[in-house]
Amino acid sequence: MDNLQNRKLRYGIVGGGAGAFIGVVHRHALALAGQFELVCGCFSRDEENNASTGGSLGLDDARVYADFTQMAQTEALREDKPDFMVCTTRNDYHYACCKAFLEAGFHVMCEKPLSQTQAQAEELQRIAHVKGLLLGVSYVYSGHVMAMEARSLIRAGEIGEIMMVMGEYPQDWLIEMAEGANHGISTWRIDPQIAGRSNCVGDIGTHIEHSISFMTGLRIEKLCAVMDKFGAGTALDNNAAILIKYSNGATGSYWCSQVAAGYDNALKLRIFGTAGAIEFDQEKSNYLTVVRKGGAPQLWSRGRGYIGDAAAAYSRIPAGHPEGYHNAFVNLYSSFADALRDLVSGRLRPLEQYDFPTVEAGVDGVRFVEKCLESAANGNIWVKY
Ligand SMILES: NC(=O)c1ccc[n+]([C@@H]2O[C@H](COP(=O)([O-])OP(=O)(O)OC[C@H]3O[C@@H](n4cnc5c(N)ncnc54)[C@H](O)[C@@H]3O)[C@@H](O)[C@H]2O)c1
Repeated sequence: MDNLQNRKLRYGIVGGGAGAFIGVVHRHALALAGQFELVCGCFSRDEENNASTGGSLGLDDARVYADFTQMAQTEALREDKPDFMVCTTRNDYHYACCKAFLEAGFHVMCEKPLSQTQAQAEELQRIAHVKGLLLGVSYVYSGHVMAMEARSLIRAGEIGEIMMVMGEYPQDWLIEMAEGANHGISTWRIDPQIAGRSNCVGDIGTHIEHSISFMTGLRIEKLCAVMDKFGAGTALDNNAAILIKYSNGATGSYWCSQVAAGYDNALKLRIFGTAGAIEFDQEKSNYLTVVRKGGAPQLWSRGRGYIGDAAAAYSRIPAGHPEGYHNAFVNLYSSFADALRDLVSGRLRPLEQYDFPTVEAGVDGVRFVEKCLESAANGNIWVKY
């Protein structure tokens, strides 16, 4: 019986044609992981781009599809069908794409946000559960070794009971747009038809929400959001400040912005507990600042002997040779592959024991956006989760 133990896992991908951003990152990370093989794709709605991307990757023409539903149905009939599918389109196709793959019996890894509405996300969650399929959502930052180390330290009680959380994710790529400039390919993020009802909170605020929830395990009880649309004619938010109350009584403060001059992808998380604090900065993701109450702040380095086994298992090269964004994707996919192999061989553990964001994280991310929108639309009121 093929229990996936002694071979590479086969996958198909949607998106990632020439000129695309994240689909190409997924492909590169999957190649870097060394345990995956691309067997089919629907790379772009542009016929020429689709064909030439498939050709350049050495795919059989018959396995390069113009339409992802056709890819799902045709591939499902093959004996050597993919073990899972990857969806990297813009937000507007995530729901349809995941639905087509799940209904055809495929496990799926999807880009965030899982869908444009909570109802759609919950429907995908139901289908995945009923069919016993894995549906992962690539909130990539939790794939960094030092994000995993932060989670281990917090779980072990190293910083005590969490009291405050500060999460920020400033960028500045839309600052010129607020003055009328055109940003080409990324402009879909400010188009409600493609992005959904939020731009900034949906695109990067959700990364704060997921990273904090991953590291701390805290559950949001209520939130209060201010969502700004700076610049004339701006349809969706490009800056937001969100106050959070967690169910354990801790307080959170999140800020995300695409109009903060001088910032690239400055996701930074500071978590304060009764016994110490932890600070993670994704632009310096090989390090973690750890503070024990009363002690000097320490800079922990990935790849050193003092890192716990759970996080160290994902560290691939010696400290000082930086691992980064691609490696974080490799780690998510490695964990997804572990779960898939365990599932097929009847040894699946509870999903929270794996290290990839599950469909539950995907649903949480979409709910977070909807609750922020509800708060902002009603005069920045506190909204119960
Ligand atoms: N996890 C992260 O860190 C991260 C980073 C960037 C983007 N994203 C997410 O990834 C998604 C894509 O973002 P992007 O910046 O790569 O966008 P993009 O516009 O650069 O790429 C989208 C690709 O999908 C293709 N595509 C769109 N619809 C298709 C369809 N129906 N069939 C086949 N191909 C189709 C496009 O041709 C393009 O190749 C978004 O949902 C975004 O939120 C996540």
